[in-house]
Amino acid sequence: MTVLVAGGAGFIGSNFVRYYVQAHPLDTIVNVDKLTYAGNMDNLIGLADLPNYRFVKADICDQSPIESIVQEFSVTSLVNFAAETHVDRSILGPAEFIQTNVMGTQALLEVAKKFSLHRYVQVSTDEVYGSLGTTGKFTEQTHLHPNSPYAASKASADLLCLAYHHTFGLPALITRCSNNYGPYQFPEKLIPLMILHALHDKPLPIYGDGKNVRDWLHVLDHCRAIDAVLAKGKVGEVYNIGGNNEWQNIDIVKLILNRLRKPESLISFVKDRLGHDRRYAIDSTKIQRELGWVPQYDFDRGIVETIEWYTANQQWWGRILTGEYQSYYKMMYEGRENA
Ligand code: NAD
Ligand code: DAU
Repeated sequence: MTVLVAGGAGFIGSNFVRYYVQAHPLDTIVNVDKLTYAGNMDNLIGLADLPNYRFVKADICDQSPIESIVQEFSVTSLVNFAAETHVDRSILGPAEFIQTNVMGTQALLEVAKKFSLHRYVQVSTDEVYGSLGTTGKFTEQTHLHPNSPYAASKASADLLCLAYHHTFGLPALITRCSNNYGPYQFPEKLIPLMILHALHDKPLPIYGDGKNVRDWLHVLDHCRAIDAVLAKGKVGEVYNIGGNNEWQNIDIVKLILNRLRKPESLISFVKDRLGHDRRYAIDSTKIQRELGWVPQYDFDRGIVETIEWYTANQQWWGRILTGEYQSYYKMMYEGRENA
């Protein structure tokens, strides 16, 4: 089997590629990524020489180059991670999100249809379901109610996948996962941002009252779940993936400070994110029951390993925390303190 992984230079995609080439040495992975600000060849160090791995720089919105790649490498399946992924950036400027997440997905679906690929897995998110109150969990039956431009673009892509399945019989499957943590996550996201600020004794900016809840899953558990869906999921189906591991943001931040022996006085409450979803929680009964997937990572171990990974990999984040990142950070956080 030859799997085209779109967006494999990002956080989850690069973890998936590394996991997959080892777990399936007889398969080939063709990693296709545009290398946006979030795509990083440093995430893929050590893979280039493997006989079952190739990298090609391309934009998923450009159908013709993707078709050439599919033909050249005799691709049989496609897993789409490629996306604009940061909610805050989607509030600053939604256009790129519509372009890549909606138009790009449609281009990939066209390619999958034209070349009769055996499987198309769309990596989606629990954010398509909207926000929860203090109780309940998202199931695959929960109505879509995306609140941010990011979530709306992901929900639109999901609907396109389902429509291509219904109309053309395209063998599409969708995964909807909760918040991931682990190595190689771009430091615009909560956990790596807070670890790096703590390491630098910089204020840790918590939006609103810090009581928003996320359900955290280790990225390698997510990768194993996608592998299971690719191998044995039922086409046309949606699979929720979650860690059953809810945390308020403030408690995650305190845990990080505590582990790094830094004072809680570094915490800085800042103006809330616009339209900030209050709580996510995922019911993953379906994938557990039907595909036998269960999370293996214990959170206490996973978060400590993650903190240690960022502490040990200064060269990795040192290259990121320059240029574009600094301008983004200023635009997003300057003047936001003491809300
Ligand atoms: P990321 O931002 O770290 O990586 C995204 C990757 O996509 C980058 O390598 C980028 O260069 C690439 N990309 C962007 N636009 C592209 C284009 N037009 N053509 C080709 N490549 C392009 O994202 P991530 O956190 O690894 O998320 C991967 C996927 O998983 C996304 O689809 C996201 O919606 C989904 N997801 C993420 C989480 C999470 O917690 N991070 C949870 C659930 C689902
Ligand atoms: O739920 C899955 C989603 O998780 C994915 O689809 C998205 O791609 C991914 O970015 C993530 O979205 P969130 O918005 O939940 O993640 P983020 O890390 O941006 O924020 C997590 C929580 O932390 C959220 O409640 C906002 C808060 N936060 C975030 C940042 C960056 C802060 O309080 N301060 C911050 O500086």
